[in-house]
Amino acid sequence: MQTILVTGGMGFIGSNFIRYILNLNHDFKVVNLDKLTYAGNPENLKDIEQIYPERYNFYKADINDFETVDKIINKEKIEFIINFAAESHVDRSIDNPNVVVQTNVIGTQTLLNAVRKNKIKKYIQISTDEVYGSLSLDDPPFEENNRLKPNSPYSASKASGDLLVRAYFKTFQLPVNITRCSNNYGPYQFPEKLIPLMLNNALQDKELPVYGQGINVRDWIYVTDHCSAILKVLIEGREGEIYNIGADCEYSNINLIKKLLKIINKPESLISFVKDRPGHDLRYAINYNKIRKELHWKPEVNFREGLKLTVQWYLDNKNWLNNIITKEYLTFYEKQYLNR
Ligand code: NAD
Ligand code: TYD
Repeated sequence: MQTILVTGGMGFIGSNFIRYILNLNHDFKVVNLDKLTYAGNPENLKDIEQIYPERYNFYKADINDFETVDKIINKEKIEFIINFAAESHVDRSIDNPNVVVQTNVIGTQTLLNAVRKNKIKKYIQISTDEVYGSLSLDDPPFEENNRLKPNSPYSASKASGDLLVRAYFKTFQLPVNITRCSNNYGPYQFPEKLIPLMLNNALQDKELPVYGQGINVRDWIYVTDHCSAILKVLIEGREGEIYNIGADCEYSNINLIKKLLKIINKPESLISFVKDRPGHDLRYAINYNKIRKELHWKPEVNFREGLKLTVQWYLDNKNWLNNIITKEYLTFYEKQYLNR
């Protein structure tokens, strides 16, 4: 049995990854370390805790707390670390960059110090294509050797985390990989992000706040495809390498929202064009030839199928959604909405 420390495992992608790997491969044990911020939700893994009591363990802790991280690594005999823990929302990073830098930069460095002190076989930094900045509509997609030109406090903090991972590889020869994935969608995504926010609003016949003209383009990937790519990198990734992850699926926000409305049979009149996000990146698009050729990975879920699966999951899990729509959520949402 090999033990992986997953940080940020109560969030959207981390919880999907834990579910994915425990169901798939019985040789792995997962230790989940999560601070349970507003985005960390123990409900995401309630069933997993019961199905795999021997292969799953949870600690409520902060990645900034070196002593606790170090203790858990030793107690649990951790061999691999995958860092999903982050403040992950661009709008929140604009509202308050401080906590974003604390977790995404200093938290990453704290984990790297723990990797350095202990015998860890592989550390993976879960990063994002947003570190490359923004593309024009006719630029070629991002490649791993593009310059980093982040534009939001969120993407700048993720780029800083990546640079620290690189520096610890070059200076201390730590066994690391960085993955940079495009926009994820699927079950358990917090309804502050585009797809679940629009879905949640539309189901309640509330306005859909589209920033600017809705012409911004994002490149979408179903979350389990991201998970399978991370597992590939964990097992086969060459030390020190960066791997882009994507699924050739670019949509403008407005076209995506129209597609979503069609699936749930709601009118386009719900769409409301609101003030644009400051520094709003026009387009992300990812070239993932490297992971395709080197590690023989490819995405499996097409957008039509993935969007239907996602909608069905939210329809089947209305309680999950209702439990999240708390005072904190509504306060932030209303503040955002009133400012636009
Ligand atoms: P999320 O916001 O849903 O989850 C983040 C998790 O990290 C939460 O459970 C939270 O409690 C935890 N966390 C936050 N600060 C912490 C701290 N200091 N110590 C311990 N735990 C802490 O985010 P997500 O969408 O699942 O994203 C996971 C990772 O993937 C992030 O690093 C993000 O940058 C990256 N990423 C996300 C996307 C996307 O589309 N969502 C795309 C590419 C990369
Ligand atoms: P988001 O899900 O926040 O992801 P990111 O900004 O990290 O790509 O937003 C995706 C796109 O949707 C982005 O162009 C901003 C836009 N958007 C809206 O138009 N309205 C909204 O309410 C939200 C949350 C996002």
